[in-house]
Amino acid sequence: MSFTVAIDGPAAAGKGTISRAVAAEFGFAHLDTGLLYRAVGAKGGDPVQAALTLTPQDLARDDLRSMAAGQAASRVAVIPEVRAALTAFQRRFAAQEPGAVLDGRDIGTVICPGAEVKLYVTASAEVRAHRRWLELGGDAARVLAEVRERDDRDMNRAEAPLRPAEDAVVIDTSELDIDQAVALAFEVIRQRL
Ligand code: C5P
Repeated sequence: MSFTVAIDGPAAAGKGTISRAVAAEFGFAHLDTGLLYRAVGAKGGDPVQAALTLTPQDLARDDLRSMAAGQAASRVAVIPEVRAALTAFQRRFAAQEPGAVLDGRDIGTVICPGAEVKLYVTASAEVRAHRRWLELGGDAARVLAEVRERDDRDMNRAEAPLRPAEDAVVIDTSELDIDQAVALAFEVIRQRL
């Protein structure tokens, strides 16, 4: 039996850090599903075709972490055929032994509705924008505007909008440091192992 941990939430809430810590602690594989959408957005051309023909090389591009790549990702992520093209890969990944952590926007709601653990990791837009700015630099007001724009697109799209699954445990990291957020996630998982 595999064990799936679904971690959803908006950009820069701490999903990636928590996911990596969970994977290391429990010996699970980790998939950052945002990278799939970033790679589709960065590939250019027809996004549906890009999603259907995604390769490991596409996922290894070093320009995928930028704000621009994040915006491009959220624009292709509204296309139902793009999402459908990436679903089977994510579900196969989630089913591996002894377990897998997937982080994204729709893991607990659409990709793995039967996940053993669902976390919704969030924080205020201001706190998240500040973290992004510390990481990537640039104009702070612009970073906040981009975070808000991406939240808006991800939460209000028709297909697989960002929202907590009904049975998700919400972790608000606005006033938590990394160690505290990770400890909370470990506690929830240990209760269900
Ligand atoms: O998590 P990350 O910031 O890398 O995600 C980039 C974009 O990809 C998100 O803003 C969202 O539009 C899209 N995405 C998605 N579903 C996922 C993961 C990411 O729609 N499971």
